[in-house]
Amino acid sequence: MKILVTGGLGFIGSHTVVELQNEGFEVVVIDDCSNSSKDVLKGITKITGKAPLFENIDLKEKDKVEDFFKRHQDIQGVIHFAASKAVGESVEKPLLYYENNLGTLVYILKELVKKNKASFIFSSSCTVYGQADEMPITESAPIKPAESPYGNTKQIGEEIIFDTCKVTPSLNAIALRYFNPMGAHPSNEIGELPTGVPQNLVPFITQTGIGLREQLSVFGDDYPTPDGTAVRDYIYVVDLAKAHVIALKRLLENRNVTNYEVFNVGTGKGSSVLEVIQSFERVSGKKLNYKFVARRAGDITSAYANTTKANDDLGWKSEYTLDEAMKSAWNWEQKIRK
Ligand code: UD1
Repeated sequence: MKILVTGGLGFIGSHTVVELQNEGFEVVVIDDCSNSSKDVLKGITKITGKAPLFENIDLKEKDKVEDFFKRHQDIQGVIHFAASKAVGESVEKPLLYYENNLGTLVYILKELVKKNKASFIFSSSCTVYGQADEMPITESAPIKPAESPYGNTKQIGEEIIFDTCKVTPSLNAIALRYFNPMGAHPSNEIGELPTGVPQNLVPFITQTGIGLREQLSVFGDDYPTPDGTAVRDYIYVVDLAKAHVIALKRLLENRNVTNYEVFNVGTGKGSSVLEVIQSFERVSGKKLNYKFVARRAGDITSAYANTTKANDDLGWKSEYTLDEAMKSAWNWEQKIRK
């Protein structure tokens, strides 16, 4: 069965391609390599013994999207990762984010509604909840006003899919709301490849550990949390990748309850920034150089998932601990800096 993975050379996309191929799916990857490298294909091939089909297409080019679906009429499902994800950049360049993240979504959905049956998985984010009123966060928690154009594209993206599903019974979709993905594949063949200075905590920690950055700035020590630093739900990227395959199978096998569903994908456990640093120090045996600085604008105090719906309805559960995920991130950092 042929599945399209957009953004399949990116961090979460590449790990998902591996899991799909391991489960016997035939995968076609579309990526424009704007924030990824073609070399990732080698890693995927090494792990799975099979190279996915690859097409370098910019999904903003509507004609190319149409042409692609004409050439691959047997595609039965799409996992749509391709999107821009830098919060700060989205504030500077909102139109770029709306075009990249929403224009492309519309073009793909336009192709899928033409089919007799199609399955669609969307990369959403826990950012849609903003600072939720209650922890852990359930899927029915209210959607808060977006803090950035990036966050807004996830909210609007979900609405576009919801509205389309309402009038398209042949389209089945699931939005997965990711918490904080981290780590690298256990084979050490693929992992996170941030361009420039990492914005996210874990790659900044491992780059500091390896000596590429001098010091980690911990954004805020005065949050109302047990140790004063902000709390997030760090999910191992392979666990997250597996959630996509399980969600896709649910749709392909018609086990979904409605034709648009939403699931949180997290561990259910909150970890503070200091706890993440301690995890790094445990698994690497190194002391991390860090200092406390002011809070980062737009950051929330705490976000961790209630995973009951994903566990019970989707039949998915995270398996790896923070230390295991951190160890894989550290192994990967050491490999790519050699
Ligand atoms: C961020 C985005 C979120 C997006 C997610 C994608 C913001 C405000 N939010 O989430 O919308 O969906 O990335 O991966 O950018 N931290 C430090 N020092 C650092 C980096 C981070 O202390 O150098 C802290 C942050 O303040 C936060 C935690 O580490 O408390 C995690 O930060 P990060 O990895 O950037 O993820 P989020 O902010 O949760």
